[in-house]
Amino acid sequence: MNKKVTIKELAEKTGLSTTTVSQILNGKGSRFSEKNIKKVLAFRDQLHYVPNSAARNLSNKTDKTIGVLVPTISNPFFSEFLQLIENYSDSKTHVIMIGLDGDHSQLYSAIEGLIAQGVDGLIVAVAVEESSKANDLLRENWIPYIVLDQNSTKDSDFIATDDFHGGQLVAQYLCKLGHRRFSVVVPGKESMTYNINLRLNGFVEKCRDLGIATDDIQILEAKFSKHGGQKTVPDIVSFKPTAIFTLSDELAIGVLGGIYDQGLEVPGNYSLVGYDDTDYAEFMNPKLTTVRQPISLLAKYALEMLENRISDSKLKQQVRAVDVELVIRNSTKEN
Ligand code: RIB
Repeated sequence: MNKKVTIKELAEKTGLSTTTVSQILNGKGSRFSEKNIKKVLAFRDQLHYVPNSAARNLSNKTDKTIGVLVPTISNPFFSEFLQLIENYSDSKTHVIMIGLDGDHSQLYSAIEGLIAQGVDGLIVAVAVEESSKANDLLRENWIPYIVLDQNSTKDSDFIATDDFHGGQLVAQYLCKLGHRRFSVVVPGKESMTYNINLRLNGFVEKCRDLGIATDDIQILEAKFSKHGGQKTVPDIVSFKPTAIFTLSDELAIGVLGGIYDQGLEVPGNYSLVGYDDTDYAEFMNPKLTTVRQPISLLAKYALEMLENRISDSKLKQQVRAVDVELVIRNSTKEN
């Protein structure tokens, strides 16, 4: 039995890119020259190329297929976002979800794979310096896409969340409670993305405006996970803050566990504030004070804006702004 011909081999034969070949094979190649379309189809027949089952299913569907790319599906913010995308998409829209599990270098090949499967559009929430390279790939292949959250590209359709204001809200609130010495737990450099950095800047600048000395703000880098947060606690205890701000709820969960491990407690020994307001926040003990990102609105807007872009590629740039709010629960108290 002859070896199955891959799309890469078909592309090499035609001298075209795999994304061009896949779009022609998926019936989305109208913008390519008649000559190239005929060349691809001729080699497809000559080499008896058969698309893989997933591509065959997608390209045969009269429905729409969208890809959603997030940094990791294990994080509660992204898992909630993905679930809402699935809930809000209509029955004729099929959703392919890809979590890069922290390995942002996979973004480019993940996008190539989705194009090869013939997706109609993409929602990209992955940060990375590579995002401009990835966005170039999407633009070159005329794939409709929108970006949000960690992807800070501003020359495409995007949803802007006011992260700087989120950091300011936390500083304002903790200073109002009388706190003057803070530990801030941030993701390590490999995960410190544009939007998260804005939260830190908002917090530090507001603290400075309110008279907090730089030496009274400890910034601790952690792996962007519960364990990462937990591991920062010994350094927090040594610094002796009265309040802790973690740049995601997941880090807050880890810090809370670490504090209990030391026989200490929240808010008795430390006030604790998170960021996201995922559904964990209100089920923690104590219930977490945090900054609410409107995840439901982000999912609704992302689908709506992508639908608009798929329907009209010439539509002027779509930009939506969403604000955040401080949700006060039981993990904070007066100093
Ligand atoms: O919890 C994951 C964090 O990374 C969230 O705050 C989200 O905004 C993403 O950037």
